[in-house]
Amino acid sequence: MSAGRNLKDQVRVHIRWMIRRDMAEVLAAEQQSFDYSWTEEDFLRCLRQRNCIGMVAEHDEKVVGFMIYELHKTKLHILNFAVAPSHRRQAIGRQMVSKLIGKLSSHRRTRITLAVRETNLVAQLFFRSMTFRAVKVLRGYYEDSGEDAFLMQYRILNDTGPDDADEMLDSVSMREEI
Ligand SMILES: CC(C)(COP(=O)(O)OP(=O)(O)OC[C@H]1O[C@@H](n2cnc3c(N)ncnc32)[C@H](O)[C@@H]1OP(=O)(O)O)[C@@H](O)C(=O)NCCC(=O)NCCS
Repeated sequence: MSAGRNLKDQVRVHIRWMIRRDMAEVLAAEQQSFDYSWTEEDFLRCLRQRNCIGMVAEHDEKVVGFMIYELHKTKLHILNFAVAPSHRRQAIGRQMVSKLIGKLSSHRRTRITLAVRETNLVAQLFFRSMTFRAVKVLRGYYEDSGEDAFLMQYRILNDTGPDDADEMLDSVSMREEI
């Protein structure tokens, strides 16, 4: 946490797997967060894939954040992630990404990647604060706006494996990847 932020500003959340019943709250957070938002069908299509996982953060029995990510052989790839606008800057995003970092291991999945819109400065600052680094520009990555993306990456200490800067992203079929 940066200097000046108060411990009381942090909301403690319960992080768990996403279930079907969460969908209405997840969709509400999604629509409040993105100009080009995923539909329910986009979420369901994604979550039907065997390597796709949904996670939510709950506070006072409400879903206040969600994350969709893919399991790959050597990395985790974040596809969609948002905190409800009413609950931002309370360290909820930080707790969710920390949870994901906790799933990495030195002998198997050593990296987390995601594509961030070049105009999404808040997300870039957020992921930088979590020690992610931009490793590549993905030109014209988004089909909707034609915008470029930055490929951002987190890697655990001592990871000497290949970098994503040399790797093609695989799931370009989703309308909005983050
Ligand atoms: C990005 C997002 C998930 C961050 O969630 P959050 O719960 O508000 O973030 P946190 O409170 O955990 O912030 C952690 C740190 O990130 C940085 N940060 C977060 N929001 C920021 C902002 N608006 N401006 C500057 N820095 C910011 C700060 O360093 C912050 O630490 P601090 O509050 O102690 O200064 C949230 O802003 C969001 O849902 N945005 C819209 C959807 C989106 O862009 N998703 C990501 C797509 S790649």
